[in-house]
Amino acid sequence: MKIIMLGAPGAGKGTQAINIAKEYDIPHVSTGDIFRANIKNGTELGNQAKAYMDKGMLVPDELTIGMLLSRISEPDCEKGYVLDGFPRTIPQAESLKKALTERGEAIDAAVDIEVPDEEILVRMTGRRSCPQCGATYHVSFNPPKAQDVCDRCGHALTQRSDDKPETVKERLSVYHAQTKPLIEYYGNEGVLRQVDGTMKPDEVFSAIMEALK
Ligand code: AP5
Ligand code: MG
Ligand code: ZN
Repeated sequence: MKIIMLGAPGAGKGTQAINIAKEYDIPHVSTGDIFRANIKNGTELGNQAKAYMDKGMLVPDELTIGMLLSRISEPDCEKGYVLDGFPRTIPQAESLKKALTERGEAIDAAVDIEVPDEEILVRMTGRRSCPQCGATYHVSFNPPKAQDVCDRCGHALTQRSDDKPETVKERLSVYHAQTKPLIEYYGNEGVLRQVDGTMKPDEVFSAIMEALK
């Protein structure tokens, strides 16, 4: 199963990608998480990516595409994966398609989680995430069992540096200009599955499972 998550920043891609990965027993591959891990470890890639991420801009395709293609060539990706945050531009989608076609493979589904912009800002300001395992929470909509502690791995939760309101607005405008065209792209590929992302997280997950049948 090779699945792509589409949707605005804060639509719930990470939240649902983790559930899908667990359901199908496949890895959750988030380019945002890979960049954040590189920033934490002080790598050259991390330093380059941080400059763009802090402004709410996309990291250039030249840095992103090679990194993602090498990640999905690792052995744990042989049985499939959930891509969260990639592709985000038409050139990224085309590079992915080319690489998969060369191996005789294809994407099975692109799940688009639809949430209006007004709701996104509320979600982002209350988000807390686990820097250790990537799990995502919300102080009121999806709180951890113990305050500021990850349910899955026990690590202390943190707030992302790009979740400031000004940066969220910039990320939303970048989404509309550069990433939204992918909805039409995957519609034309015949793999698009759209779900209403404004329901409760477990209801959104049920809708995704229904759409993937
Ligand atoms: P990335 O980390 O991918 O961020 P994003 O796309 O902006 O998405 P988010 O992680 O903010 O949101 P999400 O959809 O995962 O929502 P979540 O589940 O957390 O990318 C960060 C940056 O890295 C980019 O800006 C860019 O600079 C760079 N980058 C990454 N990939 C790139 C690429 N391919 N090319 C170029 N640059 C790239 O949910 C949000 C909140 O809402 C949480 O608090 C959650 O608990 C809550 N929530 C979730 N579902 C619900 C629900 N149903 N109801 C109520 N609350 C909910
Ligand atoms: Mg995410
Ligand atoms: Zn964790």
